[in-house]
Amino acid sequence: MVVKSAGPDAGRAKPIGEPVNPDAFRDACSRMATSVSVATVLGQGGEPQGLTISSFTPVSLEPPLVLISIGNETPLLDYFLQSEWFAVSVLEETQRGIAASFAEKPEGRFDGVSWNQGVYGPPLIDGSVAAFECRRTGEYRAGDHTVVFGEVVRVRVAEGKPLLYGARGYRRLAL
Ligand SMILES: Cc1cc2nc3c(=O)[nH]c(=O)nc-3n(C[C@H](O)[C@H](O)[C@H](O)COP(=O)(O)O)c2cc1C
Repeated sequence: MVVKSAGPDAGRAKPIGEPVNPDAFRDACSRMATSVSVATVLGQGGEPQGLTISSFTPVSLEPPLVLISIGNETPLLDYFLQSEWFAVSVLEETQRGIAASFAEKPEGRFDGVSWNQGVYGPPLIDGSVAAFECRRTGEYRAGDHTVVFGEVVRVRVAEGKPLLYGARGYRRLAL
């Protein structure tokens, strides 16, 4: 079977009927529940950088590949595209404040946050339920986001339940 992929310059699909309204698309997406993670990288000066993401997705088991999707307008995107290594820490249900800081604070996001440096450099958030250290293997510009792929080179897990985001708010696992 041949799998075709649209290149970055490919034209948009011709919709059948009316194009999808952006608000309707956002509303439909808000019905999904996802884990909340902090994607991290070292800046050019070796300083820790990170942002809250819900786009972290395992892609392949063999080899172990993951993806994260970062908005093209996010200044941190360049750090991820310039670094060989990045990490993803999946937040635990009590780490809502960390999620908010890494989504909203313009600077000083690591202030007051306990973290340690992974073997490959990028910071890992202490207390997260899982942490993945990744070597960047490629990127794919997709509309207003860039999908960054990585091969997982090291994982760490801990007790606890993951923090969730869905229906436009932070949630806890009820089951
Ligand atoms: C729950 C949640 C999930 C998010 N997921 C993503 C994501 O997958 N990709 C992304 O680029 N931004 C995501 N964001 C937004 C970024 O965290 C935010 O835009 C970024 O930290 C702003 O950084 P900047 O000020 O450096 O642009 C998410 C925010 C929240 C609260």
